[in-house]
Amino acid sequence: MNSRSDILNEIEILKKKKNAIILAHFYQTGDIQDIADFVGDSLALSQKAASNDADIILFAGVKFMAETAKILAPEKKVLLPDMNAGCSLADSCKPEDFEKFIDANPGRTVVSYVNTSAEIKAMSDIICTSSNAIQIVESLPPDEKIIFAPDRNLGNYVLNKTGRDIVIWNGTCHVHEEFSLEAIIKLKAEYPDAKIIVHPECEMPVRMVADFIGSTSSLLSYTKSDASNVYIVATEAGIIHQMKKANPDKIYLPAPPKDSTCGCSECSFMKLITIEKIYFCLKNEKPEIYLDKEVILKAGKPIMRMMKISKKLGL
Ligand code: 13P
Ligand code: SF4
Repeated sequence: MNSRSDILNEIEILKKKKNAIILAHFYQTGDIQDIADFVGDSLALSQKAASNDADIILFAGVKFMAETAKILAPEKKVLLPDMNAGCSLADSCKPEDFEKFIDANPGRTVVSYVNTSAEIKAMSDIICTSSNAIQIVESLPPDEKIIFAPDRNLGNYVLNKTGRDIVIWNGTCHVHEEFSLEAIIKLKAEYPDAKIIVHPECEMPVRMVADFIGSTSSLLSYTKSDASNVYIVATEAGIIHQMKKANPDKIYLPAPPKDSTCGCSECSFMKLITIEKIYFCLKNEKPEIYLDKEVILKAGKPIMRMMKISKKLGL
């Protein structure tokens, strides 16, 4: 097997033979998004993982996403083509430190972002994603005191939107913290008609200049329905693939990072997944996600709580 099209064909054959599906996040490279059976944000991917007829789920994304799929579909084989595909945000919240944080803030409901390890989810009362974080917090009684973890920017965004009593874990994402407000303003001066669209994991000064703030899927929907022709996109640049597919004539400018030499608007973890790794992973059925039964049981409860609320709200 030599050429790229041979590999793509082989992946198709293996998928059919093994009754496997590929779920891909919007931050994957365009070629991976194009061979996936389903492409989405964290919430949509969890929903898809929980309801499909496949025997094998190959996750083209990062580890916390594949773990969430395993928790939601423990009877299925869940594969992740590269186990090093982690998440700097999830890594910023270690179970032993989080336990101390919960103990130091007693009597609070623990709302954890899906970008956490299975162990952190097992310590949480309810999970949220960037698509439903506000609604999940608002679903709690108004006087309920909350811990929000691990993203301090999303936490701060939710706090400002809901006005709730929230203590926030001090974690960040290496991609979303890197966008430069100065460079975004400079770019806006070059393209005065551009709309600035921002993921809530970005820092407050960047959120303050946004025309629209939302999860990856909401940013995509916004560019589909909005009348503008130019967008400055402050999230991982992989999402631009779907934006271009939906509206090829519009212009999408990745928001520049603080360090113009670092290529930081790409998530280095997401980009560890390649077509070649997907092929070998499907062929050899490894690396596979294994989780302790008790962790699956404990982490499943807060995830299911989120899934039920999202379904009820039509999210
Ligand atoms: P979404 O839930 O918006 O897809 O975001 C996932 C993520 O990892 C953001 O960095
Ligand atoms: Fe994690 Fe940031 Fe990559 Fe999203 S972009 S997976 S939060 S490191």
